[in-house]
Amino acid sequence: MEDTAIVTSIGLPNPITTDESDGAMLEVVGGTPLSGQATISGAKNSALVVMAGTLLCSQPCRIRNIPHLMDIERMGEVLTALGVGLKREDDALVVDASTIAHTKAPYDVVSRLRASFFVIGPLLARMGVARIPLPGGCAIGARPVELHVRGLQAMGADVHIEHGTVHAYVPGSGGRLKGAKIYLDYPSVGATETLMMAATLADGETIIENAAQEPEVADLANFCRAMGARIRGAGTNTITIVGVPSLHSTDYGIIPDRIEAGTLLVAGAITRSELSLYPVIPEHLTAVIAKLHEMGGQVVVEGHSRVRYLPAHTISSTDIQTGPFPGFPTDMQAQFMALMAVCEGSSLITETVFENRLRHVAELNRMGADIRLNGNCAIIKGVHQLSGAPVLATDLRASAALVLAGLAAKGTTTIQGLHHLDRGYDDLEGKLRRLGANLRRYTDAAAATTTA
Ligand code: EPZ
Repeated sequence: MEDTAIVTSIGLPNPITTDESDGAMLEVVGGTPLSGQATISGAKNSALVVMAGTLLCSQPCRIRNIPHLMDIERMGEVLTALGVGLKREDDALVVDASTIAHTKAPYDVVSRLRASFFVIGPLLARMGVARIPLPGGCAIGARPVELHVRGLQAMGADVHIEHGTVHAYVPGSGGRLKGAKIYLDYPSVGATETLMMAATLADGETIIENAAQEPEVADLANFCRAMGARIRGAGTNTITIVGVPSLHSTDYGIIPDRIEAGTLLVAGAITRSELSLYPVIPEHLTAVIAKLHEMGGQVVVEGHSRVRYLPAHTISSTDIQTGPFPGFPTDMQAQFMALMAVCEGSSLITETVFENRLRHVAELNRMGADIRLNGNCAIIKGVHQLSGAPVLATDLRASAALVLAGLAAKGTTTIQGLHHLDRGYDDLEGKLRRLGANLRRYTDAAAATTTA
């Protein structure tokens, strides 16, 4: 492995900074059909946790297929703050955690990325101590971490929360966690990943029951196994890990982003367009594909990892209840609501995963949608056509839903709050533009120039 330069950031080409995004607006002109093929980037929710997982390894690791987006940049800042070497090489990231200089993640970095909390498991397992500011809530919910904490305590860690920081350390000589049998009250993705990573270097066997089964959990397990971890059952509701003394270097490729792929499939459905996506792992999209079929479209699997969306003349209504994998993914809920807003008939969405993930309803209604809220349920009465309007993105997936709605609306939609979009999608605008969408990003100043 060539020497890895220690960089202060992972050097995204033209890294989009929050303030740039904050001032920017995305203008979407509706009514243009899409066509062609889009390339799907690496999965954000794999890349973030795998980056944290590199802390388990005392040798450099190379992670391929890392998407270019703000959250990745921020996770890089967290690792750099811990004294880890990072180097971006095109779509790969070389992480050298051979020395971890600090075990306290700085608040200013953690506060900008909830997923920073993922470092607690690897730090405890590797160093026997970790001090991580509580990630706090976000737009979609309180996002507590008690399942992570209780699991680490079951593995012998002393964990207490003081002044908004989680203080964790492994008492006793050697400072190694101990294997334990852990039952998760809820199949939390993050808690499953935290505890699975912690268990890879613990003494003895850990069994996680009622574990999350999301593909990103299995991807993390495969990454850890590539480093020599002994993990069985990832992707099912029971994961067994037998601790090993240390892990070794690996070169690992992240799975494609199923939520980006699902978002682009909905772009095809809402514009009645045929388009193909590559690479895609169809079994990561079973619920999404089933719902698109129910609504009238066809998703055809072509070859090893390509899917093609074939539009229906009319889109029919259906009902969706979000839930843990293999249930319908909450990260696709807002996008499907935009599609249901322009289908024939009434649809019902029940959001069971996050308590505040229906804030896009008000913005879609500003575009002429007919959506009523009742607790964690939304009743969507399809309308013939939405009308373009100025709207504000409230969270990551809501911002994608507003882009999709803009593609189908009559006239122009201008979307603010683009830092949400830039956090979680790797150039979604560019991908849509290459499929034929009529959209462009401008800042207030640029707009003034444009209109002058
Ligand atoms: C991961 O978040 C994803 N984020 C989310 O994606 C995704 O929506 C979520 O899993 C569910 O699939 C990343 O992987 C970085 P959870 P996570 O722990 O791990 C409650 C996106 O848009 N809970 O499965 O935080 C929690 O409050 C993002 O890409 C506890 O009560 O999800 C929530 O209601 C958004 N106590 C539910 O479980 C805990 O200790 C699901 O949370 C942990 C979680």
